[in-house]
Amino acid sequence: IFVLVGTFLLLLLVSISLKKVELSVGESKFFTCTVIGEPVSLDWYNPQGERMVPSQRVALHNEGFRSRLTLYNAKIEDAGIYRCQASDAQGHTQEATVVLEIYQKLTFRDVRSPQEFRQGDVAEVVCDVSSSPVPVVSWFYNNVEIIEDTEKFQLLQNNNLQVQRVTKADEGVYRCEARVEARGEIDFRDIILVVNVPPVVSVPQQSFNATADYGESVTFTCRAYGSPEPDITWHRYDKLITIAAKSGSCTTLTVRNIQHDDGGSYTCKASNKAGEVEHELFLKVFGEDTFFYWVSLIVYYVTAYFALVLCLLIPLSFVSCGDNCSCGSLSVIYMQLKAKYGISAHNKNLRKRVFTF
Ligand SMILES: *[C@@H]1O[C@H](CO)[C@@H](O)[C@H](O)[C@H]1NC(C)=O
Repeated sequence: IFVLVGTFLLLLLVSISLKKVELSVGESKFFTCTVIGEPVSLDWYNPQGERMVPSQRVALHNEGFRSRLTLYNAKIEDAGIYRCQASDAQGHTQEATVVLEIYQKLTFRDVRSPQEFRQGDVAEVVCDVSSSPVPVVSWFYNNVEIIEDTEKFQLLQNNNLQVQRVTKADEGVYRCEARVEARGEIDFRDIILVVNVPPVVSVPQQSFNATADYGESVTFTCRAYGSPEPDITWHRYDKLITIAAKSGSCTTLTVRNIQHDDGGSYTCKASNKAGEVEHELFLKVFGEDTFFYWVSLIVYYVTAYFALVLCLLIPLSFVSCGDNCSCGSLSVIYMQLKAKYGISAHNKNLRKRVFTF
């Protein structure tokens, strides 16, 4: 296309290959300026009116009646009117212009998926998209457009979508769709919304009774629900006992061969990324039948006392006294008592006394 400016008296006729160019940020383009006549110079001027010289993003290539201007890696600030000016020996100048418009294509920045929220929170689903001119953003939930603000959904100024009191039922695919009306440009991102639910723990039985030294066992059961499925651990006095073997949401802890010091509290702790919760269970350990226990204790002490006295007075009347014990009879008496009344090993004081006489 030739643009003729001036009268037929002018000797130069200048034209540029393109009149108006739209370029997206980052793209590159070249323009060719052609002159008919006898020019002595052919120069390009940028939108600020400065004569252009080669640089990192600008290349100039002159070849007789032509000059080629190349713009690399366009930036928003490159927009404007570029002029190609020719002058002849008499100092007459002629020029042609090209209008350069720079736009930014739809650009989604760091739109994450999935986006996770805690049950009950206000969830802001982020869709960071930009373009020039600015985009129009629409949201779709499971393929249905969210047309206006509801109690559940609000379309925010920053193009994000806000979901009130998010629950498991709000999980799904949210589509953020952006349009640039002027160019008919459209693009979208699908975002998966995940709702995490803190654990809830329940136990079918809270407290247990057992008798010491009868080889008894108890099994604690703890049920935990949550999303994602919680990890369950068992603790005792703030110390981790075991990471539970789970069968579904249910976990058990078995205490075998119960001794006196197994009594007390046990804690089942359930945790996931949304939170942690614990539940205490109790084991009450009873001694032997109380009446027989005390009778046996008294009998033991009385016997032991007499045995000791006898032992000290007439050492030779007893069988053998080893290195650790003083009187064999005491052990014998103890064994008999234990057999009869089950004086238990858990009574450590008693046991200690038996062996340290
Ligand atoms: C444990 O024993 C106590 C009495 O000492 C009783 O009240 C309670 O019901 C018992 N618990 C169980 C689970 O058997």
